[in-house]
Amino acid sequence: MRDMPISIQHHYSLLKHNTFAMDVKAKQFISYKSVDELIEVLNTLRKCGERILHIGSGSNLLFTKDFEGTVLHSDIKFIEEVSRDDQHILFRVGSGMVWDDFCAQMARDNYYGSENLSYIPGEVGASAIQNIGAYGVEVESIIHEVETIEVATGLPRVFQTNECEYDYRDSIFKNNLRGQYIVTAVVFRLSLIPKVNLDYGPLQAFKSQEGVPTAKAIRDAVIDIRRSKLPEPSVLGSAGSFFKNPVIPVEAYQEIAATYADVPHYMVDDRHIKIPAAWLIEQCGWKGKQHGGAAVYEKQPLILVNMGNATPDDIIELAALIEQSVKEKFKIQLHPEVNYI
Ligand code: EPU
Repeated sequence: MRDMPISIQHHYSLLKHNTFAMDVKAKQFISYKSVDELIEVLNTLRKCGERILHIGSGSNLLFTKDFEGTVLHSDIKFIEEVSRDDQHILFRVGSGMVWDDFCAQMARDNYYGSENLSYIPGEVGASAIQNIGAYGVEVESIIHEVETIEVATGLPRVFQTNECEYDYRDSIFKNNLRGQYIVTAVVFRLSLIPKVNLDYGPLQAFKSQEGVPTAKAIRDAVIDIRRSKLPEPSVLGSAGSFFKNPVIPVEAYQEIAATYADVPHYMVDDRHIKIPAAWLIEQCGWKGKQHGGAAVYEKQPLILVNMGNATPDDIIELAALIEQSVKEKFKIQLHPEVNYI
């Protein structure tokens, strides 16, 4: 027995469901609260051959136009302890939980693993699809398994971490299995003993302090860094980093370094180097530039923002112009991290 009927909205504005604040509409919007409800919804949609798009909090997508189908959203919210041993504790978390609410609870109880990922906008289900990352940590490092429902059959399938093909901001759910499985819960493995990653610039200050910082202290520092660099989605619309940081062959890096000796870079392996896209975009003179209602964020040029009245085309055009100038100046093709819908 359900307490309330499944929430179904027609001709529904997605304005509150994407952090870029694009005022586009979905033919139908359905929010479900349990796996049983999801299966029921999928059975109905399958019969009418409806186009489906599943979203989290819309913090990593750009709606380019109205969506002529059904947008699904998980409202499955719970955090439950599964097991623990001397070193680890496992939590099963509903896909509709706000990601940072989970991080806050883990840090409060001093469980290590999610603190560097604090304050990333979005929900738990999407975290496992996008392999969110920040300050030297990617979420795959704490994922134990991912619970899903197959769209075509309504059957459950649990993916072990090694089946998810995790990579930099990438997973099997964005590639071979795109749109085929809906994440309903994620099981995370946190560390009961201090296990920290303090390699990112501003976090290195902890290294000179005595003792190991608490998960809460690292979380607080991460939140301070994010607040100083990144726009608050509630104040200025954006989808975080718009492009991925490009990975290029060592020879291509050497060619750039011959002209720009100070080009920032990180070794990926002995053949490949990652260059910050923010640096490439800044070198091309884009920092703070506006195009229609869209702009390049002045404090972090990897972020495109909606100045209040941006249309999807303003953002699409600005992104294309940036790609073009980076390509002309550095012979590097940038790829959006944001999903165009
Ligand atoms: N930089 C500039 N000019 C600037 C800002 C940065 O040249 O105005 C250069 C600097 O060399 C700096 C480097 O870019 O050292 C890296 O900048 P930052 O540390 O801000 O990180 P990022 O590479 O731009 C990535 C993630 C962020 C994540 C941060 C911190 C991607 C696409 N983005 O950004 O993730 O928070 O590292 O780990 O990997 C997101 O995915 O939405 C996101 C915000």
